[in-house]
Amino acid sequence: MSQYHIKNLEEYFQVYRKSVAQPEIFWEEIAEEHFQWKRKWDKVLSWDFSKPEVSWFQGAQLNITENCIDRHLTHRGDKTAILFEPNDPKEPAEHITYRQLHKRVCQFANVLKEMGVGKGDRVCIYLPMIPELAISVLACARIGAIHSVVFAGFSATALATRINDCDCKMVITADGSFRGPKTIDLKGIVDEALTSCEGVENVLVAQRIHSKISMKEGRDHWLQPLLDNAYKDCVPEAMDAEDPLFILYTSGSTGKPKGMVHTTAGYMVYTAFTFKNVFQYQEDDVYWCTADIGWITGHSYIVYGPLANGATTVMFEGVPTYPDWGRFWEIVQKHKINQFYTAPTAIRALAKENLSYVEKYDLSSLKVLGTVGEPINEEAWHWYNDNIGKKNSPIVDTWWQTETGGILISPIPYATPTIPTFATLPMPGIQPCLMDENGKEISQNPASGRLCIKFPWPSMARTIWGDHGRYRDTYFSAFKNKYFTGDGSLRDQTGYYRITGRVDDVIIVSGHNLGTAPIEDAINEHPAVAESAIVGFPHDIKGNALYGYVILKEVGETRDNDNLRKEINQLITERIGPIAKLDKIQFTPGLPKTRSGKIMRRILRKIAHQDTDNLGDTSTLLNPEVVEAIMKEAL
Ligand code: WT7
Repeated sequence: MSQYHIKNLEEYFQVYRKSVAQPEIFWEEIAEEHFQWKRKWDKVLSWDFSKPEVSWFQGAQLNITENCIDRHLTHRGDKTAILFEPNDPKEPAEHITYRQLHKRVCQFANVLKEMGVGKGDRVCIYLPMIPELAISVLACARIGAIHSVVFAGFSATALATRINDCDCKMVITADGSFRGPKTIDLKGIVDEALTSCEGVENVLVAQRIHSKISMKEGRDHWLQPLLDNAYKDCVPEAMDAEDPLFILYTSGSTGKPKGMVHTTAGYMVYTAFTFKNVFQYQEDDVYWCTADIGWITGHSYIVYGPLANGATTVMFEGVPTYPDWGRFWEIVQKHKINQFYTAPTAIRALAKENLSYVEKYDLSSLKVLGTVGEPINEEAWHWYNDNIGKKNSPIVDTWWQTETGGILISPIPYATPTIPTFATLPMPGIQPCLMDENGKEISQNPASGRLCIKFPWPSMARTIWGDHGRYRDTYFSAFKNKYFTGDGSLRDQTGYYRITGRVDDVIIVSGHNLGTAPIEDAINEHPAVAESAIVGFPHDIKGNALYGYVILKEVGETRDNDNLRKEINQLITERIGPIAKLDKIQFTPGLPKTRSGKIMRRILRKIAHQDTDNLGDTSTLLNPEVVEAIMKEAL
């Protein structure tokens, strides 16, 4: 038996027990046997959650791209590493072998170097799902530059905030992107963002849609000619185990986005290990994760985890609806996909359409189906299981976060018996616990409480870029000596976990993590708006949609003010992006507030959920009369 590859439930329990009893030996053996090091570590783990400080494999040196690319060249040089499926099904797919990937990453790395980018510098990547995205990520890692990928659906303002927060000196983008039948002017968005980013010296522009764009002399450079002239080998930089590999922004319940910092060795070991086990990847399998590399799912389970295992990983540029609702299944048939990993929101959207879109295609290659990003409801689970898996492919409901770097709770397919809506059991090395309202750990089963993790794991984020205090306050202050996830969870009689959702002011919309505060800030910028509050309410496809309560400066006839609603959503689109638009906007004379001035969101949530029979305790409200008024006008 190999502890790197768990094959049945008994092995899982055996490996899990060892990972808890002897975590350092467990991870050391895995690191030793399955990766290439330039120098071995002096100490496997040191940690102190009160500071918080965590370091894995201290003293070791490595380069993650050597592990993801170079070491596969001898046996897998001609194997497809990245299989690119374009937006337009008529455009041929591109198979990039490990050998080709090596060359393209080296050339890109050399271009970065020539542009003056070096170890520790931050590079912002704002690209659509084209091969250059994965290649530029790896090129940064090759030379030790810290990549900060910003999802190419974010607005110019959101992009600028992220570029400035970590002082990126370079931006890598494209002329534009294809999205189903539409094109998006990415370079225009970058140009707008850069009017407020002084630190950016160079912009590299990949050509994708061949649109007319403006190139700023001295700052903007077409990528391809530079790549064509670049040398095709590049010695990988020796990185310390704890050197930052990347920054990835995630929304918080308050304030500006948090730049989660992930480091090199632990992240590599953990994402590779979990990829192997959660997807049961076998040598000739073709694996497809439909996420965008702009999110953590893409970083860990399109790029690093699969490539560290020498896998074939699919990158899909398009959307599930183009040219029709059968696109996902057409791709599964075309590339004989073995593992398919997507989000519940996509499943719910697909399940609403006619089954003929599924039945047209041969899905018999599928062996494992995955979901991530939000709780999957029972109906969607069964639709996925019945129609896609034909009751033959186990579903792995994988729970994790941008902050955790890798999957923490998930079934191991063909080993862990699954129950719909349960993420089931912790991965080896993960020690979850449930905490009650008084900060006490709940040990009995069944139970429900706030989900925490008691012991460090290799891929946890180490800090928030530029704000370690915020890192400590957000994750390590609610419960002493524990990492607090922000999620609530149930644990059943057998110890299976079911994630019930956020317990803070983060709302997950279509699998996107949205903080209420930045959206409220955007709304409040409207000259007619005095104050606002956002809550989530259930939505068939998105899981949650956003409901905004808005107080106007001048009270008047507002119920039908659709223009104002449009303007508010326009502002949100500009400040954050279209994903944060509100489905409902109710203009209201006031918001329910406690005596200390805190908005009582619990009540607003109930009204948005149309569940007003029992509003709970309203005695601490300063203005109980406003609740009646809001209920009367509720949408
Ligand atoms: C939040 C993290 C991890 C990559 C995508 C999201 C929710 C995630 C599940 C799941 C129930 C889930 C949690 C978590 N979430 N996976 N399988 N079941 N909820 O990353 O944007 O950092 O969001 O997504 O609420 O805290 P993220």
